[in-house]
Amino acid sequence: MALVNSGTPGKLKLGVLISGRGSNLQALMNAAAAPDFPATVALVLSNKADAAGLERARGAGIPALALPHKDYADKPAFEQAMTRALEDAGVQLVCLAGFMRLLSPWFVDHWRDRLINIHPSLLPAFPGIDTHQRALDAGVRFHGCTVHYVRSEVDSGPIVAQAAVPVQADDTADTLSARVLTAEHELYPLAVRLIAEGRVTVEGNRAVLSGPLPLPAIALNPTV
Ligand code: GRF
Repeated sequence: MALVNSGTPGKLKLGVLISGRGSNLQALMNAAAAPDFPATVALVLSNKADAAGLERARGAGIPALALPHKDYADKPAFEQAMTRALEDAGVQLVCLAGFMRLLSPWFVDHWRDRLINIHPSLLPAFPGIDTHQRALDAGVRFHGCTVHYVRSEVDSGPIVAQAAVPVQADDTADTLSARVLTAEHELYPLAVRLIAEGRVTVEGNRAVLSGPLPLPAIALNPTV
């Protein structure tokens, strides 16, 4: 399904879910500040009241709510509260950006093909946590990040965009993570732009792009 760009003032309305520092939220807010970016951040929600990302949003004049999961009787009540807040704000696309709660099949189905996530690996490699150390332990030559539509299985779903980051011989999890994060900040706005422009269609397990972007034919690591 392709999302139609609608709502005032003609931009796709994003809801961003965070739990912490919110650097990807910042990247989305920075991108959305450009007049020609086809999406706007309508609401930021956090399950942690002290998430630094909430202050980033408020500083930019964006509505930002803390909905601490612990304040709700159970997961359905928490997810219904989030859904109400998102729908009240007219959100058309929900972007997970370091949101550290597992979402139920109900929430995932309710927002099906209107819910995306950024994950710090080249999925389907390294779903879950500690992706950078696991990439180093596996000796992969390329690591990176993925923006994907969310399905119920953790870190799965149709892939919208990926960025490959070469692994260097002397990388630590910290140095690799820092380079991947820089790539995330490029990739998330790009993926949102493609969706907001109506260029992404979900077909089965794949997200198909229309109007292919020019790409380099090959990337070697190590280079020779
Ligand atoms: C990022 O590495 C993202 O890929 C992962 O959680 C981290 C969130 O970082 N899902 P930030 O809060 O956006 O800075």
